[in-house]
Amino acid sequence: MSIDIGADIDAFIAGLPKAELHLHIEGSLEPELMFELARRNGVEIPFDSVEAVRAAYDFSNLQDFLDIYYAGAAVLLTRRDFEDLAFAYFQRAAADTVRHAEIFFDPQTHTDRGVAMAEVIEGLLAGMARAEAELGVTSRLILCFLRHLDEAAAFATLEAAEPWLDRIAGVGLDSSEVGHPPSKFQRVFERAGTLGLKRVAHAGEEGPPAYVHEALDLLHIDRMDHGNRSMEDEALVQRLAAERMTLTVCPLSNLKLCVVDDLKDHPVPEMLRQGLHVTLNSDDPAYFGGYVNDNYRELAHAVGLTRQQLTQMAKNSFEGSFLSEADKTARIAEVEAYARAAG
Ligand code: ADE
Ligand code: ZN
Repeated sequence: MSIDIGADIDAFIAGLPKAELHLHIEGSLEPELMFELARRNGVEIPFDSVEAVRAAYDFSNLQDFLDIYYAGAAVLLTRRDFEDLAFAYFQRAAADTVRHAEIFFDPQTHTDRGVAMAEVIEGLLAGMARAEAELGVTSRLILCFLRHLDEAAAFATLEAAEPWLDRIAGVGLDSSEVGHPPSKFQRVFERAGTLGLKRVAHAGEEGPPAYVHEALDLLHIDRMDHGNRSMEDEALVQRLAAERMTLTVCPLSNLKLCVVDDLKDHPVPEMLRQGLHVTLNSDDPAYFGGYVNDNYRELAHAVGLTRQQLTQMAKNSFEGSFLSEADKTARIAEVEAYARAAG
């Protein structure tokens, strides 16, 4: 029997089970929580209202955004702050029928301000445990190295996180891409691999296809974050398709950071046509104007995605996750049952 969600793409997206694989937890810091934490911790912020914060979120490139994003993170000091931040994200995610999320965090943004690694990681893990118990959302943690800093700092960060490595799924690479190629972090990624950690990296967001090649060949990534500029290199696209490399694409981020001029020109339809393993994600939802379902919805309306394409990307999100094979199979079956019931 078919149910009436089939009639409406927005309702179809609202109920579609999905995983989110590209989410910076610091990028889910909503202005309201920023003010609450600033008050609680006695931290000065250069804004006098929530509206003034939102008005400042007008970016012309990645660096514009990163400057504001790192400044906003200054209100995060205690493990309770990190737990509150994480739980607030999971509440929004659960409302978007996210069943599983693999969240990035940037430890250097905090440890370089004197916040102990234990406060950051124990707080995030507490938020993740609460989300699983109270909301039924499972999660994994991915430690990102800031690529504008040097490789020695990345090694020191990995070492400082050692007591928690059994609760960290993998390492990632983020921050200012151009001028900081993956090759700069080849040895620390190799070390992460020997420690049994998964490896992901932002590549081809603003950087050229050569950076995507380096992420594959030198960092041995298990998954690629963004990957948009791969589309400029036909052989690379064929390779990504053949290797079934998962791409964590972030449409509203791409729009806000001027990676695309208009969502109508977003490469997702062409990526799908060329057999790429695309997933849709929110990146930094508090800064880019939408959580994961907003990304599905706004892209679907802009480029005319079908329910079959939306279902495929939701299945890809579980397939490309770091869940066990049994959990992947169960979650994919859930997506298929949902799509069947929608008619
Ligand atoms: N850190 C947070 N969001 C990011 C993005 N979109 N690219 C690179 N680094 C980031
Ligand atoms: Zn990102």
